[in-house]
Amino acid sequence: MRETAQIRALKADITTLEVDAIVNAANTSLLGGGGVDGAIHRAAGPELLRECRTLGGCRTGEAKITKGYRLPAKFVIHAVGPVWRGGNHGEAGLLASCYRNSMKLAAENHCRSIAFPSISTGIYGYPIEQAAAIAVATAREMLADESGIEAVLFCCFSDHDLVIYNKLLAAE
Ligand code: AR6
Repeated sequence: MRETAQIRALKADITTLEVDAIVNAANTSLLGGGGVDGAIHRAAGPELLRECRTLGGCRTGEAKITKGYRLPAKFVIHAVGPVWRGGNHGEAGLLASCYRNSMKLAAENHCRSIAFPSISTGIYGYPIEQAAAIAVATAREMLADESGIEAVLFCCFSDHDLVIYNKLLAAE
């Protein structure tokens, strides 16, 4: 990892974070939903949905970028995580690819800071311990490249999730 790059976890509502990009845990339609997706659309305002309508959806494991509109974040990166179906349906690879593609898009758009929610671990049912391990490992891998990204934040919505991320981040 580059000396200047930092990865940390915090507990917050992701819509309040002043970072270059926040990541949305979206669905393949990109037309909004519940959970963090609903919160992001509410906070960004109706122009976000207008831009999302032009994108033609997004495949599972992939990501697309929009402006942040009324959010403090400049960009929203909409990533589609896998629905948990027991773990033998390529879920781990698809989840890692969400993190990888999101960080790629952030770097291409000259973002220096990016915040992730815990993709797939709400409505999509991915076990948090396994999902968080993939999130942390993939972010570390991506930062090892010269991405230009200086800060990766894992934005947890519960104390329970925060403990899990902090444990993983404390381990080398
Ligand atoms: N800030 C940060 N994290 C949040 C927030 C928030 N404001 N709100 C919820 N979370 P989920 P998924 C956490 O269900 O499992 C939507 O309908 C939440 O506690 O939002 O990927 C989409 O349209 C959990 O830890 O996303 C899709 O249809 C994490 O965000 C589907 O849900 C992810 O939970 C995607 O399901």
